[in-house]
Amino acid sequence: MNREDKGGEEEEEIVCLDESFFINDDYQLTTFTFGSQVLQLFCLQSASTDFDLTGQLVWPGAMLMNDYISKNAELLQGSSIIELGSGVGITGILCSRFCREVVLTDHNDEVLKARLGVEKLEWGNSDQINQILHKYSGGFDLILGADIYIRCPRLLFIFQYESNGSRCISFQQSSIPPLFDTVEQFFRIRDTGQCKFILAYVSRAKMMDAMVISEATCHGMLINEIAGTRSAVGNLEGVIFQVTLQ
Ligand SMILES: C[S@@+](CC[C@H](N)C(=O)[O-])C[C@H]1O[C@@H](n2cnc3c(N)ncnc32)[C@H](O)[C@@H]1O
Repeated sequence: MNREDKGGEEEEEIVCLDESFFINDDYQLTTFTFGSQVLQLFCLQSASTDFDLTGQLVWPGAMLMNDYISKNAELLQGSSIIELGSGVGITGILCSRFCREVVLTDHNDEVLKARLGVEKLEWGNSDQINQILHKYSGGFDLILGADIYIRCPRLLFIFQYESNGSRCISFQQSSIPPLFDTVEQFFRIRDTGQCKFILAYVSRAKMMDAMVISEATCHGMLINEIAGTRSAVGNLEGVIFQVTLQ
């Protein structure tokens, strides 16, 4: 920004930077090994979470999920899968080695640009969910999600006006409720028990741990830890949950 003094008046010249100034798309071909499965894909090695470009790299939850999948590949044989918040897609790509059908989804345009064949899906967006269900009318056997609530739930302050003109403030957490709304919509396409949500969860905040459990319960779902999956993920703890409709 330049400031020029023109005849006593200060004028501001604003330099607008387009999005390419902020976005790093220097993807590196990276090799990942899960048991006997070796995958190579382009991704970043680190990310800024200031702006949600978290999907440009592989997160610890995906490592946990892929490790579980590689050890339990028989569970996926011949199944149809939708992955939510797939990011660079390492989980969906591994699944495509065992599954009949794999649909990767994400809401972020940068992430969508980097990987072909990903469906745009912002959690809670019924139009996008319906579009996917129009294309895949039978629904899915499994819904997968790895590390998909990394961003600290933002508190959205909402000003509501009562009929008497007084103002009250309420707040809501941004992404976990719409995530479970979305899962519920995919569950309801199938008979009860015919679709499961497998969630690779890395614990980063107690508030978020509690919220995931309570949202699942509020949506009439059962959420259970899959035995033997609780493990250290760097200096954090991760676990795989299986979520079903009651
Ligand atoms: C931390 S990254 C995890 C990416 C990948 N699953 C992994 O574990 O490597 C979270 C992903 O969820 C996506 N995401 C976040 N909020 C979302 C929302 N409200 N709707 C759809 N996708 C979302 C982001 O774009 C990002 O790709």
